[in-house]
Amino acid sequence: MASPGSADLVIVANRLPVDRVTDSDGTPGWRTSPGGLVTAIEPVMRANDGTWIGWPGGTEQDLQPFEFDGLDLVPMAMSDEEIENFYEGFSNATLWPLYHDVVAKPAFHREWWDCYVSVNRRFAEKAAELASEGATVWVHDYQLQLVPQMLRDLRPDLRIGFYLHIPFPPAELFQQLPWRRQILEGLLGADLVGFQLPGGAQNFVRLVRQRVGHKTHRDLVYLSDGRTVRAGAFPISIDAAGFEELARSEAVEKRAAEIREALGNPRTIFLGIDRLDYTKGIYARLRAYSELVMDGHIDVEDAVFVQVATPSRERVQQYRILRDDIDRLVGHINGDLGKIGRPAISYMHSSYPREEMAALYRAADIMVVTPFRDGMNLVAKEYVACRFESDGALVLSEFAGAADELRQAWLVNPYDINGMKSALLEAYGANGRELTRRMKAMRKQVIQHDVAAWADSFLEELAAVRPSHGKTVRPAKRP
Ligand code: G6P
Repeated sequence: MASPGSADLVIVANRLPVDRVTDSDGTPGWRTSPGGLVTAIEPVMRANDGTWIGWPGGTEQDLQPFEFDGLDLVPMAMSDEEIENFYEGFSNATLWPLYHDVVAKPAFHREWWDCYVSVNRRFAEKAAELASEGATVWVHDYQLQLVPQMLRDLRPDLRIGFYLHIPFPPAELFQQLPWRRQILEGLLGADLVGFQLPGGAQNFVRLVRQRVGHKTHRDLVYLSDGRTVRAGAFPISIDAAGFEELARSEAVEKRAAEIREALGNPRTIFLGIDRLDYTKGIYARLRAYSELVMDGHIDVEDAVFVQVATPSRERVQQYRILRDDIDRLVGHINGDLGKIGRPAISYMHSSYPREEMAALYRAADIMVVTPFRDGMNLVAKEYVACRFESDGALVLSEFAGAADELRQAWLVNPYDINGMKSALLEAYGANGRELTRRMKAMRKQVIQHDVAAWADSFLEELAAVRPSHGKTVRPAKRP
């Protein structure tokens, strides 16, 4: 067994919660990433002397552990070859499409797999080195599914949790993976394996029974060494109060008015905000909207569709193809349907800070979220959190995890263009009372089930799985 370190709580994720930036004087610095995971975990990290292990992006090699805003961060370097084979290859061209309903065809390459194994081992070894005796280690997402078992082999004293942020596929799809058994065994190193939805947990337990041959009962897996692993659903959320506070701020209100003004004060603003990813259904959504304009149901003098696409995984071929497809589609639509100063679609390929996102949410009348498959989709929840006047409409794909909670959205099947057109039109024509009724119910859900509740419930459950084992993780001190 490796000798223990001093951290009572270790977070292991592919990314650190900070991004590299260059300060005004040219020296390299760090900035908190816009993602929500850090907001969720930061309070528990602080309460438990936590350490976060992750890749800071890029290929810098000689990075040392550092403190940022009171958090202990341990950067893991990645070589060019690892970025290509582990990150772009196995993580994002094998697992990502396979776990998202094979929306794109997954590629299977043995050298990508070998690299996935070796990077996972490096993360596991680092966690083993830093965790104190009986500490809690929380491993995140599809890039690191082998870490739980590798870590358990090195440090059987640890309490290990794993959380998958993306969907876990049905057995019929997972079965394609040549390394399916190794992945399942990797995950079974954890005491608790968390998923977004109950369906993911059920898929996992069924696969473990069929493919690895362990006894299972409901959400429990009984291993031959006497250990029990629990699988459960923990739908992730957002810092709802933080978003609402931002949305209520004067600066954001002013910026929202500026955005509306810059768009020519249209009666209705439709909005899409997504990472530029083929799972998000951006193409189908823009087509549906453009047909409504073409059919004469929507006039470009009255309405505009604002689409923000955040650059993502730009060296992976399928992402490049998608970018070209969307560029071409937007060009066609605006060329055919736009008027001077009145494009049908206002398209931005860039990423914005939280404040600008909040202003966009405040400015938008109809939020359109239409992924073909999505673990949760936090944009849908962020929109709801920002609509403190209980107005605005949400059009949401049934295939986003968020649809399980946001039942009062206009739910759509993103493969059904006519169905999407009807839902967009209904939302467009809905009266104030209808909008308020729906938004109020959705706000209640998002406010009550925020990201702090998510982190607490996962960690509490993890402690409960093996109560007599390991140190207790102190709950976060929240304001
Ligand atoms: C999804 C995944 C995360 C990932 C994020 C951004 O939300 O669940 O694990 O970090 O996308 O993708 P990237 O490839 O830039 O890390």
